[in-house]
Amino acid sequence: MDFLGTLKRTNYCGEIRASDVNQEVVVMGWVNRRRDHGGLIFIDLRDAKGVVQLVINPETNPEPFYKAEKIRNEYVVAVRGVVSKRPEGTINPELATGEIEILAHELRVLNTSETPPFDLTAPFTDIGENVRFRYRYLDLRRPSLQHNLILRGRVVKIIRDYLYAFGFNEIETPFLTKSTPEGARDYIVPSRVNQGLFYALPQSPQLFKQLLMVSGYDRYYQIVRCFRDEDLRADRQPEFTQIDLEMSFIHEEDVFQIIEGMVARVFSEILGITLTLPFPHLSYDEAIGKYGVDKPDIRFGMTCHDITEIVKDSHFQVFSKAIAGGGKVGGLNAPQCGNFSRKQLDDLTEIVKVYGAKGLAWIKITPEGWDSPIAKFFTDNERAKIMEVFKPQLGDLLCFVADNQKIIGPALGHLRLHLGEQLNLIDKSKYAFLWITSFPLLEYNEEEKRFEALHHPFTSPVEEDIDKIKTNPGSVRARAYDLVLNGIEIGGGSIRIHRRDVQAQMFDALGISPEDAVKKFGFLLEALTYGAPPHGGIALGLDRLVMLLVGAESIRDVIAFPKTQKATCLLTGAPSEVTKIQLQELGLKLEIKKKTI
Ligand code: AMO
Ligand code: AMP
Repeated sequence: MDFLGTLKRTNYCGEIRASDVNQEVVVMGWVNRRRDHGGLIFIDLRDAKGVVQLVINPETNPEPFYKAEKIRNEYVVAVRGVVSKRPEGTINPELATGEIEILAHELRVLNTSETPPFDLTAPFTDIGENVRFRYRYLDLRRPSLQHNLILRGRVVKIIRDYLYAFGFNEIETPFLTKSTPEGARDYIVPSRVNQGLFYALPQSPQLFKQLLMVSGYDRYYQIVRCFRDEDLRADRQPEFTQIDLEMSFIHEEDVFQIIEGMVARVFSEILGITLTLPFPHLSYDEAIGKYGVDKPDIRFGMTCHDITEIVKDSHFQVFSKAIAGGGKVGGLNAPQCGNFSRKQLDDLTEIVKVYGAKGLAWIKITPEGWDSPIAKFFTDNERAKIMEVFKPQLGDLLCFVADNQKIIGPALGHLRLHLGEQLNLIDKSKYAFLWITSFPLLEYNEEEKRFEALHHPFTSPVEEDIDKIKTNPGSVRARAYDLVLNGIEIGGGSIRIHRRDVQAQMFDALGISPEDAVKKFGFLLEALTYGAPPHGGIALGLDRLVMLLVGAESIRDVIAFPKTQKATCLLTGAPSEVTKIQLQELGLKLEIKKKTI
């Protein structure tokens, strides 16, 4: 049976306007709300384009009225009616269709609905994420989520058109592959045909895009899913999408230009905003020094300062001892926080402690001078120099952390962000882009007592530093860059190593033996010996970019079917058990007790 009968949709609910008055229309959608009013029934009918008001009058249309009485929220209905101007005083300027209503004379219930487990019109914050994700198909009916996902599709289209116009070729790369290290754990997939062997899902298409450069494709891009088993948070999902690109015979500036043009196009077409190009640059060291972190939010100041030299001989032993032990002292000036209570100061201390700091020393700048438990430890000269660095106003609060730079940076960096929010210093209407450059190539992992690649092992060192890979690995600079927007890393890339000898040196510096290097990346090392061109590229996180474009708090709000913090899908119940037979076919036996989520 055809539920629609002779009815054929003529208009979308959300698109009917005053210019349609007196037209007969057929609309179809979901019942957003039904109200009974003095004999009349009003229904707000919702479809993909918005909401329109239906009016059903029992006097003139008894049959639809009788049906409408039984209708509940989220029923699916089709309605034939005539567009009519709303009576004076009932016009709703908030609604695009607020000037009109449809006088229904035929109504068909196409489907009923159970009472939804949550109110689809309630704010997100009123409903737990668990129930939203369990019934994601209902959650996705919300206009705000529909807006996000539809906008995401438009962003992708703009990017495709842009890159195509600049000569980029869209080429797909495998999902069932070998490990591509990007700093996370791999998701692995057992092979049935080759028992005991495993594929890894790609953490990125990094190696394949480099191989495509070796193959001479010159400019590659792909809008591609990547898989990383890592700790999740608001801007991290186990599977996420990259705008991934790679170019041959280029310098860093070529990548900057392409990406700046692309982002500017997206912002202009989606938000109508003209971005100022080129984006500013900041070196990694400057970023860490001034903002504590390598992805600074530069929409506000409150920068950090190093006062190690000033206080290294001070009588405040927390400072002088830390410095004697190889540490530093850093601080920032919290404007007009000099009236903070004990409790407020304790709260700030708790924030820096999260990042490993042992405490937070503070000085209130009052008309009577310094108000601080540590004031007595400083000489006039030290005081004067500290004042010279921070140039505080009366009523300000200076905050200090003494430790090694790896603790001071994140501790002060996050304190700064916290205060920026609390003091309302961040202009939320701003989009502050920033390139971070001059990263170190390698970073020492204290726990594992070895060097790690700060980006990935295929990033090229600065040419003059190649000799230092062996002698002084920590001082080698990388040809890497990150793109930061409002304190969020939205992209990262580099000029790559294109010579086998340099790649071998890099693996050596990372403590990967030549045998292991061949086992893991032999195909890349080999390809580099067959005329690999100089090349480089970048990948932007599409989810993060769209999150910032729509002003969402989490990338989960721009992904149709996201995973929870524990990497589960509450809708489908993934991950889930497999049958004994499936395990047998794979040659696998479970040692752990099976869990259900
Ligand atoms: P990188 O690891 O920096 O670089 O990733 C590029 C961008 O992808 C986004 N991103 C994520 N988004 C959501 N969830 C995640 N778990 C997640 N992890 C990363 C970030 C990040 O800036 N192959 C290199 C790129 C290159 O060198 O060309 C790479 O993957 O926005
Ligand atoms: P204490 O000498 O431990 O009583 O600390 C005096 C003040 O210095 C307190 O306000 C502590 O929070 C602070 N403090 C302790 N350790 C550090 C540190 N590593 N860096 C900055 N301040 C600290």
